[in-house]
Amino acid sequence: MNRKVIPSLLALGVSLSLCLTPALAQDEVKIGFIVKKPEQAWFINEQDAATKLGQEKGFKVVRLSGEDGQQVLSAIDNLNSQGAQGFVICPPDVRLGPAIANRAKQYGMKVVTVDDQFLDADGKPMADVPHLGMSGYKIGRQVGEAIAAEMQRRGWDPQQVAALRISNNELPTAKARTDGATDALLDAGFVEQNIFDAPQQNTDTSSAFAAASPVFSKNGRFEHWVIYALNEESVLGGVRASEQYGLSPDQVIGVGINGSGAAFAEFSRQKPTGFYGTVAVSSTMHGRQSADNLYTWITQDKKPPANTETTGTLMTRDNWQQVREDLGL
Ligand code: GLA
Repeated sequence: MNRKVIPSLLALGVSLSLCLTPALAQDEVKIGFIVKKPEQAWFINEQDAATKLGQEKGFKVVRLSGEDGQQVLSAIDNLNSQGAQGFVICPPDVRLGPAIANRAKQYGMKVVTVDDQFLDADGKPMADVPHLGMSGYKIGRQVGEAIAAEMQRRGWDPQQVAALRISNNELPTAKARTDGATDALLDAGFVEQNIFDAPQQNTDTSSAFAAASPVFSKNGRFEHWVIYALNEESVLGGVRASEQYGLSPDQVIGVGINGSGAAFAEFSRQKPTGFYGTVAVSSTMHGRQSADNLYTWITQDKKPPANTETTGTLMTRDNWQQVREDLGL
């Protein structure tokens, strides 16, 4: 073996790595994906989808939890120390928008929201932060229409039915969704006075369960109930409360929103429950598209559209596997 080859290869290796390393480090794109409910299937799937896109396109996604303001700000500090150029976030409270945007700006990071849009100090959507989320009102109407159709199929008299509306009026997308469902029910002949609010503290099953239970006990005269909320996790809380109160599945029609693991588990039970269906939206698409928008902004300096609204498909026990496949879930 030619002895000269080794030192010259070594020298080549050293000079290659000298000129490549800084360039690679500069090119490396790293983004955060911060979610308010890291244990919920919807958000796990969004983060998975973003991570997968990063693997395909060659950028890194750091998955973080932001269950309150303090945790979000620490997550942003953490991202900055890792050299991230921006982050996607579904905030735990939309009124944290200005504080979050400020912190990002201090670090020169780009930020886009997914699912829950930031509000400014006047309570208006922060239009300068690009957002991707559900078309809440339209999807809500689909919920109301699905409930009305199932009531009719069961031969219920709309004048005699009560609605449990698990509400979260602090969160604009939640209000838009329940408003849409309410309007569709009223259009189908539902009686407004028979709609009872159960305001929840949060957007999960346990807060919905806690809010729902007293509503059933106070309104024992109704034999038939419909249940709706901003998401299926909350509708499931309402359905569990109806069971605990003693209502049977044929007395309850609950329709949620999301189409994630929580709904799949319910549809997989041997016997039907009061959880009749859910309007499924592709969390895979939400995760991929929001991450892609941010990546394009970072790498090509193209700011994403101010607001992208996504649509949904009704999923029931009969078609859930097909819809799941169609939506890439
Ligand atoms: C909100 C809800 C989630 C999910 C997303 C989808 O964040 O809390 O469960 O419905 O919207 O946009």
